[in-house]
Amino acid sequence: MFSSSKSIAVVTGGAGDIGRSVAAHLSTTHDLVFIVDIDKQFLSTALNSKELAGNEKVQPFTCDIAEETYVRSMGAIILSQGQVRTLVNNAGGTYVGSLDKMSSQRWRAEMSLNLDATYLCFKAFAESIKETRGSVINITSVNALSVFGNPAYSAAKAALINFTRSIAVEYGKFGVRANAVAPGTVFTKAWEAKARAGNDLFDKLKEWYPLERIIQPEDVANAVAFLASDQAAAITGVCLPVDCGLLAGQPSVARAFAQSEDY
Ligand SMILES: NC(=O)c1ccc[n+]([C@@H]2O[C@H](COP(=O)([O-])OP(=O)(O)OC[C@H]3O[C@@H](n4cnc5c(N)ncnc54)[C@H](O)[C@@H]3O)[C@@H](O)[C@H]2O)c1
Repeated sequence: MFSSSKSIAVVTGGAGDIGRSVAAHLSTTHDLVFIVDIDKQFLSTALNSKELAGNEKVQPFTCDIAEETYVRSMGAIILSQGQVRTLVNNAGGTYVGSLDKMSSQRWRAEMSLNLDATYLCFKAFAESIKETRGSVINITSVNALSVFGNPAYSAAKAALINFTRSIAVEYGKFGVRANAVAPGTVFTKAWEAKARAGNDLFDKLKEWYPLERIIQPEDVANAVAFLASDQAAAITGVCLPVDCGLLAGQPSVARAFAQSEDY
């Protein structure tokens, strides 16, 4: 009876770099934070990470969120601990950079993880989020808003923005808010293989960013924490880029078009 009053945040892909930072932030405003991840080993490493070590509010949950039956039972178990006030759909990833190298199997797998699984997680917690007048934050990407490669992932992340708006419009009458956060390049384990390949990858990528740096997991977590808070009580249905200015434009492009060294 006592546990049913606990306010819960659920962070999918919670063992990842962005997920851990988000979980640490939300643990200051919720009684419990479930970090849900497919990888048991990542979860146990996450619990000992600098962000989460010793934080007793953070609980691991192993689940493949692309599998509907697993998501349903995850939902039932988590809801036996309290009410979900915040759902952060953060699990995501991409493997294939171009249409030419894409197989139909990979296309469906990237759609399944980046879009369908988000819908499944939302449905698992929708009633509880209604009861708590809570909020949903979907982690999309700058890839949703322009072409930076990885077409299946990008199409799924673009669809996620419209899914976010659908929640905002249909569930707004219950006091539920839904927003998306679109990060630019964040150095996480998702980039490790490419970073290992060398070629000063991140130094080269920085050149495309007006703020001359890439994004930190903490930058994304700050945006999520804000959107989950009462400070964002009137904000719903938006997609907030956390991109160090990438989508605003590129200095080198402006320099070429304006023929001005001021950029
Ligand atoms: N890193 C970037 O540059 C970047 C940029 C824009 C958007 N994003 C988005 O941010 C989110 C987090 O990415 P990240 O860079 O922290 O990645 P990450 O690889 O560090 O973390 C992703 C986590 O999701 C988990 N996961 C994968 N498939 C799963 C499944 N089926 N069920 C449950 N968990 C699963 C992984 O085990 C991993 O721990 C993703 O949605 C990603 O698309 C990342």
